Amino acid sequence: MTETRNAAVTYEGYLKVDELLSLQHPRSDGPEHDEMLFIIIHQVYELWFKELLHELDHVMRLLRDDEPHRAQHTLKRILTILKVMVAQLDILETMTPLEFLSFRTRLEAASGFQSAQFRQIEFVLGAKSEAVLGRFPEGSPSRAKLEKRYGEPTLWDAFLYYLSSEGYPVPASHLTRVVSAPIEPAPEIQQILLDVYRRDTKSAEICERLVDLDEGFAEWRYRHVRMVERTIGTKPGTGGSRGAEYLRSTIGRNLFPDLWEIRATL
Ligand code: HEM
Repeated sequence: MTETRNAAVTYEGYLKVDELLSLQHPRSDGPEHDEMLFIIIHQVYELWFKELLHELDHVMRLLRDDEPHRAQHTLKRILTILKVMVAQLDILETMTPLEFLSFRTRLEAASGFQSAQFRQIEFVLGAKSEAVLGRFPEGSPSRAKLEKRYGEPTLWDAFLYYLSSEGYPVPASHLTRVVSAPIEPAPEIQQILLDVYRRDTKSAEICERLVDLDEGFAEWRYRHVRMVERTIGTKPGTGGSRGAEYLRSTIGRNLFPDLWEIRATL
């Protein structure tokens, strides 16, 4: 009888290194030196976005399964990735405005604005928008994934579910809310959160990690717009927006408003 032997697993085979390294195609003539950095950094971001979504799905499951310690551990990992993502902007800031201009026109209408995974992350964090959905072609795989997320509970919904399974009196209207609607401040939830902070260290720790996440995401937005300002000033974006002016309008909205509201009362 002949034995079927699998080829030995190798580093390159397992990680598909050849395929990965064949995916960087500068469009500028020459090509311009800095375009490689620009491509690689965006690809690295897309990989981190993929990992973030993987971890966010995990943490939502853990909260729903009433596993606060593991949820806390996963949130810590998410926050560490977010810190790396913010720090990576430093690398791109070594590119001067002129270096960027040397290949910018070759981007045509391409922009991070069109990152479907970034929009999925926003949706999971509760920042959902029908207008954003509408920008992705109907029937495309990106649109299908976003539509799915649009109709699914957010991280905040999973957290409220967790609080309810821990015995907190979360009103049914919150547990069955329309999950595509924005997360609005709610005094009855704030009352519960005040109680959590005063007596329940375990759940209060989760609240603090959610605040970290809110802050971390805002930090990425802020650092990105500063980078945009120093690189293209007030020019419009390749994605068709007013550039930095538009990006500034996305800063300052809290993802989990109740967690911020209670700070004045604690
Ligand atoms: C020189 C570097 C960069 C410049 C000049 C730049 C510029 C811009 C501009 C002007 C916008 C507004 C939309 C538009 O294009 O009209 C935008 C949006 C965006 N960019 Fe960048 N960007 C840069 C690097 C990055 C990197 C490395 C990422 C990582 C993935 C990224 C992700 C995004 C995302 C996700 C948005 C949408 C933000 C939102 O709608 O809230 N950008 N960028």
